[in-house]
Amino acid sequence: MACSCYSVKFMSVSSNPNKPLTSSPLVTSKLSPSYSQIPFSSLNFNQNLSRTQLRKSKNAPNSFVVVSGIKAEPLKVMISGAPASGKGTQCELITKKYDLVHIAAGDLLRAEVAAGTENGRRAKEYMEKGQLVPDEIVVTMVKERLLQPDSQEKGWLLDGYPRSSSQATALKGFGFQPDIFILLEVPEEILVERVVGRRLDPVTGKIYHLKYSPPETEEIAARLTQRFDDTEEKVKLRLLTHNKNVEAVLSMYGDITVRVDGSLSKEDVFTQIDAALRNLLGQRQASVGSVAV
Ligand code: AP5
Repeated sequence: MACSCYSVKFMSVSSNPNKPLTSSPLVTSKLSPSYSQIPFSSLNFNQNLSRTQLRKSKNAPNSFVVVSGIKAEPLKVMISGAPASGKGTQCELITKKYDLVHIAAGDLLRAEVAAGTENGRRAKEYMEKGQLVPDEIVVTMVKERLLQPDSQEKGWLLDGYPRSSSQATALKGFGFQPDIFILLEVPEEILVERVVGRRLDPVTGKIYHLKYSPPETEEIAARLTQRFDDTEEKVKLRLLTHNKNVEAVLSMYGDITVRVDGSLSKEDVFTQIDAALRNLLGQRQASVGSVAV
């Protein structure tokens, strides 16, 4: 045999991921008699694959490995938690490592407020009271961001959305289903301290805390700003809203929820999240990355 590497084109996989893979004439015609024994139906490709390759294993003569052309579905992650539980802080660390597109409902709303749009003006009324901004503003805004090419290509990290069952239902209706739902759990007495000490760098967008994550230089310290809803009084209202809605949201994602202890240092919180994401990727890789027959 001149070559031990065969290109196999699975034309129908991405258009119909549920269709079982069979040894079509296109496949068998390229394989030698011994290769045509491969039970293709045992290969379980539930990813968005359009082209792949089988290579004869060097170590195991009767084995084949899927070696290239595998384009896995990008990760789709949701992160949730009470106000100041550390969602934004963890999103900085997650995007740095996993290169996902960070979509924060609160940031999108604050951008509308800053731009002085009609939606921003209406949203601010609710944000100042610590209430949820109406769905007709938030749902479309988040959907449009999720549909942007970068989110589709790189995967997304949705922060602070959905916050009600109606938002979760709308998202599902648009076809957006997360792979994992991360819930940061932090006792309420810690949350108030985190909120009142939080500061933001308008230049880099980085989140600081006067006690737990102080600015690196005097220059940065001098330009830090505080969010208009970061007072003790307002965080208590936000907390009430969160507590009223969290169970309804959790019930929609129970099977993919990972609870994380958010009261630890930010590095230790990230270690837990990173382990959950690595585990998820490992499971995917096990099902599509290598197949021995
Ligand atoms: P949003 O901006 O999402 O606010 P939030 O949910 O209250 O959450 P925060 O941004 O306050 O906190 P965080 O969890 O990101 O914590 P962070 O990492 O900054 O929403 C604002 C408003 O917009 C809502 O009230 C609502 O009105 C509206 N809204 C948003 N989404 C909506 C939706 N889907 N539908 C309708 N309305 C919506 O950390 C906080 C502080 O703690 C920082 O100073 C940080 O340095 C520090 N810190 C973080 N982690 C640690 C740690 N492990 N140890 C010590 N300090 C830490």
